[in-house]
Amino acid sequence: MNKNFKRTTVTAALIYANGPIHIGHIAGCYLPADIYVRFLRATGQDVKFISGTDEHGVPITIKAKKEGITPQEVVDKYYGIIKDSFEEFGISFDIYSRTSNKVHHEMSQDIFKNIYDKGQFVEETTEQYYDEKNKTFLADRYIIGTCPKCGNENAYGDQCERCGTTLSPDELINPRSTLSGETPIKKATKNWYLPLDKMQPMLEKYVESHPEWKTNVLGQVKSWLNDGLKPRAMTRDLDWGIKVPLPDTEGKVMYVWFDAPIGYISMTKELTDQWELYWKDPETRLVNFIGKDNIVFHCLIFPAMCMADGRFIVADNVPANEFMNLEGDKISTSRNWAVWLHEYLREFEGKQDILRYVLAASAPETKDADFTWVDFQTRNNSELVGIFGNFVNRAIILTEKNFASVVPKQGELTDFDRQTLATLAEMPTKIGDSIANFKLREALALMMDVARLGNKYLADTEPWKVIKTDTERTATILNIGLQIVANLSILCEPFMPFTAEKLRTILNINHLTWSDAGRADLLVEGQSISNIGLLFEKVEEETVQFQVQKLENAKRQNLLEGKIVTPIKEEIQYDDFSKMDIRIGTITTAEKVAKSKKLLKLTINDGFKDRIILSGIGEHFQPENIINQQVTFLANLAPRKIMGMESEGMVLMAEDKDGSLSFIQPDKNIWNGAIVA
Ligand code: MF3
Ligand code: ZN
Repeated sequence: MNKNFKRTTVTAALIYANGPIHIGHIAGCYLPADIYVRFLRATGQDVKFISGTDEHGVPITIKAKKEGITPQEVVDKYYGIIKDSFEEFGISFDIYSRTSNKVHHEMSQDIFKNIYDKGQFVEETTEQYYDEKNKTFLADRYIIGTCPKCGNENAYGDQCERCGTTLSPDELINPRSTLSGETPIKKATKNWYLPLDKMQPMLEKYVESHPEWKTNVLGQVKSWLNDGLKPRAMTRDLDWGIKVPLPDTEGKVMYVWFDAPIGYISMTKELTDQWELYWKDPETRLVNFIGKDNIVFHCLIFPAMCMADGRFIVADNVPANEFMNLEGDKISTSRNWAVWLHEYLREFEGKQDILRYVLAASAPETKDADFTWVDFQTRNNSELVGIFGNFVNRAIILTEKNFASVVPKQGELTDFDRQTLATLAEMPTKIGDSIANFKLREALALMMDVARLGNKYLADTEPWKVIKTDTERTATILNIGLQIVANLSILCEPFMPFTAEKLRTILNINHLTWSDAGRADLLVEGQSISNIGLLFEKVEEETVQFQVQKLENAKRQNLLEGKIVTPIKEEIQYDDFSKMDIRIGTITTAEKVAKSKKLLKLTINDGFKDRIILSGIGEHFQPENIINQQVTFLANLAPRKIMGMESEGMVLMAEDKDGSLSFIQPDKNIWNGAIVA
């Protein structure tokens, strides 16, 4: 920060209202923003924390189509779910609104119109894909075709999900409309473009004036600038979105990335009459928290819009995080590979701070990170319970036992006391500096060091022993212990607000400010405290198992839903079929074939005799588990030699979508040798 700012506007990305939120969203953007804002508030700064849902764009209409409801129903449903779970999780927005509100539509149209009136848009007519049956232009996502790279027949107009290649609709072989299934035609249409190519020098200057931005952010932005910016259409031929405020623009709406960031401004206007101070005063600092997939929109396109408009400030920092993975795999809404916030809140009632702590401690600040349930358990049990909770608990219990839950007198200090307090006094600035520089993991680790300092202080001074001989000294020790607890109530607040609240209840104190932290006189002698039980509880093995199982079920379910049914083979005649002699028999013995992983040697009672069939099912069945099972087998298949042994037929199997095998069995036990026809 090279300037003195009077106030800060903090925004967190407006998430699409097309699904609930998961830990990836929280770790990437909302939790860091909340920690930052809570810190600014604690230091007495004027700050507004703005967010809401992005309710336009193709992601919404696609979801509507999938769920068989209207786009309006989609956004109404998810706005509620998202807002409630953020609130319960303690994300302390000053306003959480939506881009479907009237204020937002008006503000977006006003800005569009202003940019238009200033002659800053370039009008251009291009040929776009059009679905004649539905009489509509097709957004990239509504066109599928064959991927020119990998041959996937269902690649989207913007991306092939099989090979990951970014595409444009023109690159697809055999494009078809997902609405009608028919081949779209090309039709001319006029749109308004922001000439980013011409604005590049201005944007370069802007980016160069911020060498302090995170390297992951600068990396992406510079690579876009190096490639050379291209004009980008700010209008689309769609029917869901904000109407373009120009004559003869029926069937056109604003590009969702034009209206969405304006949401930050319109929501501030909804929040306060003073909104212009937060968006127009050069002494206001704008900070946009986002995930890495939003970087170019916030660092180049939104600033370009603001520059073209000329009335608004641009971001001073855009602290984007990378992605959070889950158990080694990319989080995915469509594959249900996620930990959903609303489910966590239901399953871990009152335990918001564990997740806040774990996600902040392992946040993907500089590179992608991985969330695992085992890590969740370890961090809770050894750090929150073992260090933080243990320290607070000891200080409270010892005071309860020895001083009837009243803050005892701080008498004469020893050198060790002074050393401890000197270390404590430095912590608020250290933690604050880390937060101000968006190093939240570092800040959190420093906060935990304060709890460690407290733990060590009690371990070294041993008040439980001293009490036997020296009440006065014990009083001083516990006074200092409790002062450290009071400091923690301030310092942990940005990260763990629910715990901070509990500490205030225990200590009977009001909300203190950051500038109070570091002091050893926050609690006055004689003030009573209360023991409200353990701050943190252990996360048990079963809890971890349950969550891991839930994820495994999701994975299995995906496989089941995802498998495509193989096309039916070429037609045959009855004679072809009747040549096959298919029968029922019973497995009487089964054993592994030496030196083969897959092969089992089965003896089948076919009604006449025991016949030997070698079957490649060794990875699916344990020999002892299949004895006495009835199976269907092809009896007249010419004998074949496999690994030196003769196999007389073939056992019929069906493969499930997850690759597991099933025998084809009669639904009741029937006689061996029965014919299947
Ligand atoms: N809706 C976008 C997403 O979920 C984010 C929009 S952020 C804003 O990726 F800048 F447009 F508001
Ligand atoms: Zn492909």
